[in-house]
Amino acid sequence: MGPGHAIIKRIPPFPAVGMRLIQALDDDSADIGGIVGMIQSDVGISAEIIRLSNSAAAAAKHRITTVRQGVLTLGINHIRRIAMAATVSSYVAPIARNRPLLNAWKHSVATAQLSAMLASAVKRDAEKAYTSALLSDIGLVGLMLMYPAQYSILLSSATSIRCLLDSERTISGLSHCEAGEQLAGQWSFPDDIRQVVAYHHHPPAEATEPAAIAHWAGRLASALGYPLGAIVEDLAGVATLVPPQLRTLLPEDISELAPALDQAVGDAVSSLVPC
Ligand SMILES: [Fe+2]
Repeated sequence: MGPGHAIIKRIPPFPAVGMRLIQALDDDSADIGGIVGMIQSDVGISAEIIRLSNSAAAAAKHRITTVRQGVLTLGINHIRRIAMAATVSSYVAPIARNRPLLNAWKHSVATAQLSAMLASAVKRDAEKAYTSALLSDIGLVGLMLMYPAQYSILLSSATSIRCLLDSERTISGLSHCEAGEQLAGQWSFPDDIRQVVAYHHHPPAEATEPAAIAHWAGRLASALGYPLGAIVEDLAGVATLVPPQLRTLLPEDISELAPALDQAVGDAVSSLVPC
């Protein structure tokens, strides 16, 4: 057993409500009532969903006061995304006051938004793509929880993915992809999420594979103002590299996506730290 394996065992468990929401993605029999029940089993997440539902449904005539009303107003998929983001936010909360670590979480939220769009372009399940991408850096979050000071410095200084992954192995014995793959196994995440967690920085050649979708969404998120650490991406450069089949639903001027990303990221982090 290497040092990395021992660290994985000490990383805090993923919230139970998040585990159930993930399992429901693969459960065709999961109905709205069941999903509402799952969310309501966590009082903190329920309160956050009601708050965010009111923010997202600003034009609604009546205030949303229950999770069920949120579903009726915004739709089950929107509520599911809010619930997953609120769940991972609660997991990130202990380190959210550390700015580089908070920015890494913003990168994940922006990546999830874009992954859903890219997945729709190639007829993949947008909700699975959203959740997979939101969790793609869960290994990074886990390692950050164990080594907040070292990761704060690392995220502020690493200017390439290779540098980031190599430095992570120096700190903890594992890259965040390797740590995430182990955590995903330990927490029994579905295979497609595990693939995204393990390979989002080394994607398969087939552009429609979930890990490839998350990869390109992550690079676009970085170029649109939500970088992973100090790894800068140029929007014009990334735009030319995105595989054509994934570009179908993107606007000609990709920077037009920035306001929607800002809204999604702002909502997801609004409960964590004062602006
Ligand atoms: Fe990553």
